[in-house]
Amino acid sequence: MKTNIGVFFGGRSTEHEISVISASQAMHAINREKYDVTPIYISKQGKWYTGEALFDVANYRDVPALLAKCEEVYMRPIYDDYNLYKTKKSLFGSNVFTKLDVVIPVLHGSNGEDGIFEGVLESTGIPFAGCNTLSSANGMDKITMKMILQACDVPVVDYVWFTDKQWFSQREQLIAKLEEKIGYPVIVKPANLGSSVGIGRAIDRSQLIEKVDEAEKYSTRIIVEHMVEELQEINCSVLGDCDDFQPSVCEEPIKSGEILSYEDKYMGGTKGVKGMQASQKRIPAELPDDETKRIQFLACETFRVLSCHGVSRVDVIIDKTTRNIYVNEINTIPGSLSFYLWEATGLSFDKLMDKLVQLALKRKRESAMKTVSYDQNIFSLGGGVKGTKGKLK
Ligand SMILES: Nc1ncnc2c1ncn2[C@@H]1O[C@H](COP(=O)(O)OP(=O)(O)O)[C@@H](O)[C@H]1O
Ligand SMILES: [Mg+2]
Repeated sequence: MKTNIGVFFGGRSTEHEISVISASQAMHAINREKYDVTPIYISKQGKWYTGEALFDVANYRDVPALLAKCEEVYMRPIYDDYNLYKTKKSLFGSNVFTKLDVVIPVLHGSNGEDGIFEGVLESTGIPFAGCNTLSSANGMDKITMKMILQACDVPVVDYVWFTDKQWFSQREQLIAKLEEKIGYPVIVKPANLGSSVGIGRAIDRSQLIEKVDEAEKYSTRIIVEHMVEELQEINCSVLGDCDDFQPSVCEEPIKSGEILSYEDKYMGGTKGVKGMQASQKRIPAELPDDETKRIQFLACETFRVLSCHGVSRVDVIIDKTTRNIYVNEINTIPGSLSFYLWEATGLSFDKLMDKLVQLALKRKRESAMKTVSYDQNIFSLGGGVKGTKGKLK
């Protein structure tokens, strides 16, 4: 019997479509002599579907027609239950559509890359590739991530952060603090989105107010960062787990404006809508050796201190005036799973998928070796329980 890999994608995220493309690429790369693949598409409404038609990206032009050909399914958050169940009750026979062995989440952004979906997987105990709930959540939130990196001596740009409620109640104090700590120009970001959604730059107070009002539409948590005016952006992927990891070659994405936009990232400038390979990039990035090494080191440090797993991509910013390097963000489920960086490093896409499965199984073996200390029933030891007088004796 082949190992059955469940690939989850789509999801309730602004990066839904990108996830469909990444997952399609990943599913086609999996070695089918060794593995079976079960695609599980999460609709924008949050429902789960499976079916052969989900393999072909062209079918997503008409999602209702596509879903009509698919089976709605679910998993139960029950430990050790790896079954995918059909939502429609069958009159006869089993409700089980298939049993998964390993899961590879290829969900980008909210409800997928932020630990929410990973929590569902952890509840079942199924082996899965990629960050667990904790590291996904820490990596996704731009504020929490920067706090952890700072505490671990990984350089990040200066920033301040606040909630939308604070922005309404203490705007004057926040602006004063921000102007004193970082000054202008600044970049304003919602803390937990990707793909440059809700991000804006401000060169003075009135623009700042405008951009925070905009960012606040997307998130309750806002981060305002020192803007590196003359910047070079470099990305580096890391593969492994926090004990054993390696960096890929570096890439330099090419942008058309001040900020690397959604169009730059996914549509190859503003010309085609061809998915992520279409976006312009230089691989490997043309950098002096010592800078490449430093970026690879910082990418690995970011991966390690956040306790990441699987394949991540760490994006850094180089200040061209000082050549200082800052970690900007980590993408714990990167676009196209960064396969093009691994190909350039000498690891083919099918081997990358194989490695992800091996990492998933390794983590499962390791967690099975940890002591589980809730086997004892304290109620059986006798005695009372404080605060439950009369009820538990
Ligand atoms: N501190 C900064 N200084 C200058 N440009 C920045 C800064 N932070 C982000 N940018 C620009 O904005 C883009 C998007 O920001 P990023 O933090 O990567 O968010 P996202 O998660 O949406 O990709 C970056 O790729 C870069 O072009
Ligand atoms: Mg980015």
